[in-house]
This record gives sequence, structure tokens and C-alpha cells, in this order.
Amino acid sequence: MDSQQALPADGVYVTCAYLRDKAYPAMTNIGKCPTFDSGKCTVEVHILDYQGDIYGKELTIDVIQRIRGEKKFDTSEQLAKQIAEDIKQGRAILGS
Ligand SMILES: Cc1cc2nc3c(=O)[nH]c(=O)nc-3n(C[C@H](O)[C@H](O)[C@H](O)COP(=O)(O)O)c2cc1C
Repeated sequence: MDSQQALPADGVYVTCAYLRDKAYPAMTNIGKCPTFDSGKCTVEVHILDYQGDIYGKELTIDVIQRIRGEKKFDTSEQLAKQIAEDIKQGRAILGS
């Protein structure tokens, strides 16, 4: 990123992802994945209702709403349960 660019604060966001001009509901995690002590900040977009290989394709997102901060979970199962709740909440917000 250059000095003219900025990232939203770490956290979990309801987003809309655009791939080849088509819009998809998506959940986006911005941060360092503290559960796995990754240490590296990433922007991870989880597109709902999409199957297919999109590695290398350009993707843009609109950020709709921040629903929580990133947390460190004791187990990956607890994290998976929380992500399922996040997706439910995201679908309710997007009406999808
Ligand atoms: C909606 C959503 C919420 C997430 N919330 C957290 C979180 O609170 N804490 C965390 O450590 N990682 C969080 N993650 C990131 C996961 O750690 C990440 O998806 C996981 O490491 C799987 O990575 P992999 O697909 O590369 O194996 C979240 C990811 C998504 C999509």
C-alpha cells in the first residue's frame, strides 16, 4: 500500500464482492488471524454462494458494515462456529 491508501480497522465486515462486474454477498476478515498467530495482516474475502477457482482474478469489494473485532479463539472449532454465526448475521444484513 502507498501513503494514499488506507485499510479499515481490523475486524469482520459484511461486504459486497464484485467479480467480472457481478455482485456477490461476502464476509471479509481484515487482520492478523490471532487464533493462528499468523502475525501478517491479510484481507480475506469469503464469497457466499460461489463455487469456482478465482485465483489471480481481480476482485473489488464494497464494505457495508463492521460486525465485530477480530478475536483469538482457543480452538479452530470455536472459530468455525463464530464464522458460521457471522455469515448468518451477514445474510440477515444483506437480505440474501
Ligand atoms: C467471516 C470471517 C471471520 C473471521 N474471524 C476471525 C477471528 O475472529 N479470529 C481469527 O483468528 N481469524 C478469523 N478469521 C480468519 C480465519 O483465521 C481464516 O479464515 C483461517 O485461518 C482459514 O485460513 P485458510 O483458509 O488459509 O486455512 C475469519 C475469517 C472469516 C472469513
